[in-house]
Amino acid sequence: MADAPKVDITVQQLTSQKGPVVIQASKKSLVHLRVRRGLGPEGASTMEDFQVEVEEGNVVLDAIHKVQATEDPSLACRWNCKAGKCGSCSAEINGVPRLMCMTRIEELPEGPIVVEPVKTFPRKKDLVTDVSWNYRVNEAIQPFTPREMTAEEKAKGEFNMKQVDVDRSQEFRKCIECFLCQDVCHVLRDQGKALDPTKDGGFYGPRFTIRIASLEMHPADAADRVPLLRREAGVGYCNITKCCTEVCPEHIHITDNGIIPMKERVADRYFDPLQLVIRKVTNTSRK
Ligand code: SF4
Ligand code: SF4
Ligand code: FES
Repeated sequence: MADAPKVDITVQQLTSQKGPVVIQASKKSLVHLRVRRGLGPEGASTMEDFQVEVEEGNVVLDAIHKVQATEDPSLACRWNCKAGKCGSCSAEINGVPRLMCMTRIEELPEGPIVVEPVKTFPRKKDLVTDVSWNYRVNEAIQPFTPREMTAEEKAKGEFNMKQVDVDRSQEFRKCIECFLCQDVCHVLRDQGKALDPTKDGGFYGPRFTIRIASLEMHPADAADRVPLLRREAGVGYCNITKCCTEVCPEHIHITDNGIIPMKERVADRYFDPLQLVIRKVTNTSRK
C-alpha cells in the first residue's frame, strides 16, 4: 500500500491556522502474521496466516487486535494494560519469549511475524495459556512474617531498616508476573519440573525463586524458607544458564541477585560443615 501523504507544518503556521490540522499523517503498511491457533492442551494446532494493516510505531499486540477486528474475532489472546506492566500478553514472537505490547513491529526482521503461545504452560485457546500453576506455587510460599520489634521500634511504630537492605529485596518487587522467565527455563519447560508445589522433587522456577529471595532478604522478615528452597522449591535444579535473566522485561538480575544467593543459603545450611558447627554451637540459623 502507498504511504499516506506527510504534511509538514511549522509551529508558526500551526498557531496561526484556524480549524483542524494534520501535523503528520501516520505511515501505514501491511504485515504478515503467522499465528498458532488451537483449542485445549491436547488439541491439534495449526499456523494461520493473516495480512493486516499497521501504522508506524505499532506493536505486535496492535497487529493481533487488527486481526481480531478485521479478520477473525475468535482469535484469543490475553492482554490488559498495553503498557508492559500487567504481564498478561506474554507470547513467543519469532521463537523468543516477549511481551506482545512491548515488541515494536519495525524492530523485527523482514518476513512473517510468527506469534505462538508460551510453551511451558498448557494452552487454553490460541495465544492464551493456563498459568494457574504459578499461583499455586505462590500459595505454597510462606508469606511475609514480621519479626519481633525492638523496644525502640515499638516506640516509633516502625521497623528500623537500612536502605541497602531495602534496596536488595526491592529489585525483585518490580516483577510483573509475565512468566516469560518461567517459559524460557529449561528445567520447567524441557525437564517437566513444574510439579505439585507442595511436594518434593519439582522446581518453582525463576519467578518464585526471586519471590522467596525478596522475602528471605527482607530485613523485617523472620520466617525461614531455606528448607523450602532446598526441597519443594528445588533451587538446586537451576544450573545458572541465565536464560531467565535475558528475557525479563523488567531487567531483574534474576540469577545473579536472586537465585545464586538462595543457592548459597542452601549450601551454607546443608553442605558447609564449618557453618553447621558454628550454628550448632551458637544455636543460630542464618536468615
Ligand atoms: S538460570 Fe536457572 S532458573 Fe534461570 S532459566 Fe536457567 S535453569 Fe532456569
Ligand atoms: S521475573 Fe521478570 S520475566 Fe519473570 S515473571 Fe517477573 S517480570 Fe516476568
Ligand atoms: S498488555 Fe500488559 S504487559 Fe502487555
